Amino acid sequence: MLLTEIDHIAIAVNDLASAVDYYERAFGAEVHHREIVERDGVEEALLKVADSYIQLTAATRDDSPIAKFLEKRGEGLHHVGYRVDDCQAALDAMIAAGATPIDKAPRPGSRGTTVAFIHPKGSLGTLIELVEE
Ligand code: CO
Repeated sequence: MLLTEIDHIAIAVNDLASAVDYYERAFGAEVHHREIVERDGVEEALLKVADSYIQLTAATRDDSPIAKFLEKRGEGLHHVGYRVDDCQAALDAMIAAGATPIDKAPRPGSRGTTVAFIHPKGSLGTLIELVEE
């Protein structure tokens, strides 16, 4: 089994501050990490759950993929991050199994991780992010 943990569940939100406030009030959650990822046009707030995260994600610019997702679909579940020991090996295995990669090669993700995204088409309608810590 190549997957070692559910790394994170990413939820697209319109307003990061009010989304964080809601999770704080509802669950007593605390922000563990916050980061703007310029190349993806997102700002993330990571709430730790055991060894996984809930990643609340907002757009930082109108042309980012998250902005387009929010415009089309509204707030909601955006992708699942699966933790792996070796992002390249997991990407190769998924491609061999018939998956369509969005990233042809692993690249830097937030919090110093190495990541690769897989297109939902061909992966049961789920946008998958492979995450190597
Ligand atoms: Co992610």
